[in-house]
Amino acid sequence: MKRKFIVANWKSNFTSLEVNQWIERFKNYDLGFTNKGVIICPPFVMLPILKSYLSNHKSSIKLGAQNVSPFDEGAYTGEVSAKQIKEFADYVLIGHSERRKNFMESDEILFKKVELANKYGLAPIFCVQDETTKIPENVKMVAYEPVFAIGTGNPDNPETAEKIAKQIKENTKVTTVLYGGSVTSKNVKDFTQTPDINGVLVGGASLDAQEFYAIIQNA
Ligand code: PGA
Repeated sequence: MKRKFIVANWKSNFTSLEVNQWIERFKNYDLGFTNKGVIICPPFVMLPILKSYLSNHKSSIKLGAQNVSPFDEGAYTGEVSAKQIKEFADYVLIGHSERRKNFMESDEILFKKVELANKYGLAPIFCVQDETTKIPENVKMVAYEPVFAIGTGNPDNPETAEKIAKQIKENTKVTTVLYGGSVTSKNVKDFTQTPDINGVLVGGASLDAQEFYAIIQNA
């Protein structure tokens, strides 16, 4: 059976109080997920709270950041470097369409981020918007997230997503392709049961602990 990944992208949501409320609801379900890799990507400032919860609870969940500086440590005010993130997380989202659009992140910047993530042992989860998005050489995990499907309640159809996942694997060194865009506990299986989609990247639905657990179960 293929190992499935369920990745939560909390985006710029949740205060520390709300993170603790989420944990309070989720911890009853967090009993080890056989054959599933669960990764939570909270805002940077929430990583320490989650890290301490995961170690106290002996949880199998891993952490990811949502962004990383394109520069190494040093005089880059306001940036968080890959070296700093690695103290808390094992993964990092790079190239999300919200960052490309709102923060003008170019392929050049994104490629630098991937390079630094790899340098410090953070696994990039590289987001692509369609089959034309450039993927850096040393990326193993990709999330296919068509812009029309993000936060709209209008997911891509699983046949198209599967076709793109297959194409990415054939044309690159990528071994793991996730689908993202309006994933819920009701539609997750339609994606994860295809041969080439290895999991999902979940935004809005991951903010509800019970719904996120249902997604993990149904994946
Ligand atoms: P969504 O977001 O699940 O709310 O559509 C997915 C994402 O942007 O990663």
